[in-house]
Amino acid sequence: MSEKILIKVAGLKASAGEKEILKGIDLEIGAGETHVIMGPNGAGKSTLGHALMGNPAYEVTSGNISFDGEDITDLDTGARARKGMFLSFQNPVEVPGVTLGSFIRSSMEAHGEKITLWNFKKAAKAQMEVLSMKEEYLDRELNVGFSGGEKKKAEILQLLMLKPKFAILDETDSGLDVDAVRTVSLGVEAYKKQTGGALLIITHNAGILESLKVDKVHVLADGKIIKTGDASIIDSIAEKGFAQYVG
Ligand SMILES: Nc1ncnc2c1ncn2[C@@H]1O[C@H](COP(=O)(O)OP(=O)(O)OP(=O)(O)O)[C@@H](O)[C@H]1O
Ligand SMILES: [Mg+2]
Repeated sequence: MSEKILIKVAGLKASAGEKEILKGIDLEIGAGETHVIMGPNGAGKSTLGHALMGNPAYEVTSGNISFDGEDITDLDTGARARKGMFLSFQNPVEVPGVTLGSFIRSSMEAHGEKITLWNFKKAAKAQMEVLSMKEEYLDRELNVGFSGGEKKKAEILQLLMLKPKFAILDETDSGLDVDAVRTVSLGVEAYKKQTGGALLIITHNAGILESLKVDKVHVLADGKIIKTGDASIIDSIAEKGFAQYVG
């Protein structure tokens, strides 16, 4: 357990259009901790990830978010990213005309990190080895024609290169074959080892968590956290579903 609170969410409510999706979320994640969010489809898990990152598609109607001791509720996505927040999308977007390599390098530069092309390629190649990704993917247009699994690996490559203080991984393990789940899990483990960053992992499967030490699991249903506990909740859910916590 960590002493220092990295992210603190208090009474967060968020809507898309007329629809209230998050109905009062309280969450505290310490520096270096790994938290997991599980919950039924449509519960609001991805919305929570987007709201934490400041996606303008979601309007925060009450509550606040502080990160690293600072209230970030009114900051835009770019400013949150520069402070060290990162979201790996459930459905990564295709960006024709921009290669994976140039996308990552310009993100690093936007974070104030100057790196020569030579050093960038060297560093990227080393991280791609962890992910069993061929170097040629750096020169392909971002996510264009990537298979589902390749898109997820490209997200983890960004995580390893950008080294944020806090990363939200939204179903980074879905649609992956057994070997790819292990590979992505190795990538996430490498991120923890290299940076000591904190993680919020949204998942429906325990597989990606096997090699990680999970500090807390939260069950999200109908826009609220209805249960928080240790990693034993993961097995409980696999055995008896979510109904045991609703009530
Ligand atoms: N931009 C939006 N406009 C309207 N409704 C939305 C929008 N975004 C999300 N919703 C609705 O909010 C609810 C929560 O969606 P969300 O994607 O957060 O669920 P989730 O918990 O991530 O589900 P899953 O496990 O299927 O990924 C859903 O009913 C969804 O249709
Ligand atoms: Mg989702």
